[in-house]
Amino acid sequence: MLTCYDYPTACLQDAAGIDIVFVGDSLGTNILGYSSEVEVTMADMRHHLKAVHRGVTNAYLLVDMPYAADKDAKHAVANANLFLSDGADGVKLEGGIEKVPIVTALTEHGIEVCAHIGHNPQIHGTKAATHGKTFSKAKRLIETASALTDAGAKLIVLEKITEEVSQIITETLNIPTIGIGAGRFCDGQVLVINDVLGIGPPFKHAKRYQNYNDLTFEAIRGYQEEVENGTFPTDANVSHIPADKLVRVQKWMKSGR
Ligand code: KIV
Repeated sequence: MLTCYDYPTACLQDAAGIDIVFVGDSLGTNILGYSSEVEVTMADMRHHLKAVHRGVTNAYLLVDMPYAADKDAKHAVANANLFLSDGADGVKLEGGIEKVPIVTALTEHGIEVCAHIGHNPQIHGTKAATHGKTFSKAKRLIETASALTDAGAKLIVLEKITEEVSQIITETLNIPTIGIGAGRFCDGQVLVINDVLGIGPPFKHAKRYQNYNDLTFEAIRGYQEEVENGTFPTDANVSHIPADKLVRVQKWMKSGR
């Protein structure tokens, strides 16, 4: 699973065979220049979901409930239905045991839900601490994961949870776990596409497979330099009027029009 926020990236992820293309609310900090996930609105998410949907044919299309869009069952069902009408296959929501009634309501309305426990940016902010380091916290995570599954969640994201606790959760649940900073033993992994491409700062939990910033900066500077020194455009980049038509235009110009 990978986050995705735009049409061209969606086409590439789908062609590459990514199983779950995910429009995360990390849209806010990664694309829109917001300072936190809390600023992301339903309108922001729907705009980007529709763009991503145009590029996805095979993958499962998952979308995040933005902050407060799932504040109660009524809002959650109404907002999730808007996402389904925009092309989503399922919705993800952040939160612990308090989200059990919401997951139940969505499931009863036939909406597929991905739960998300551990670090929850909408609740804990952007600075992520590791979860599941003490007995009581590990127990709570394991119990919460089971309760969300019993409520009907079809998938669960484990974010910034100790590897051992993530492994126990993965072995306990009968639904797939998707880890981010949660170790090697989850059923799947998710990363923010910006972190994979090398946009923005490096993170311990992620891996850069490309250095987008350097490549993009080089391309921008190359274009700028060539325009300024006259090496772009060349004859290969231009179109011509046929010579006889040009002669007519030149004569017409000379004639005083
Ligand atoms: O919005 C997001 O990018 C996420 C991932 C961290 C899973 O929720």
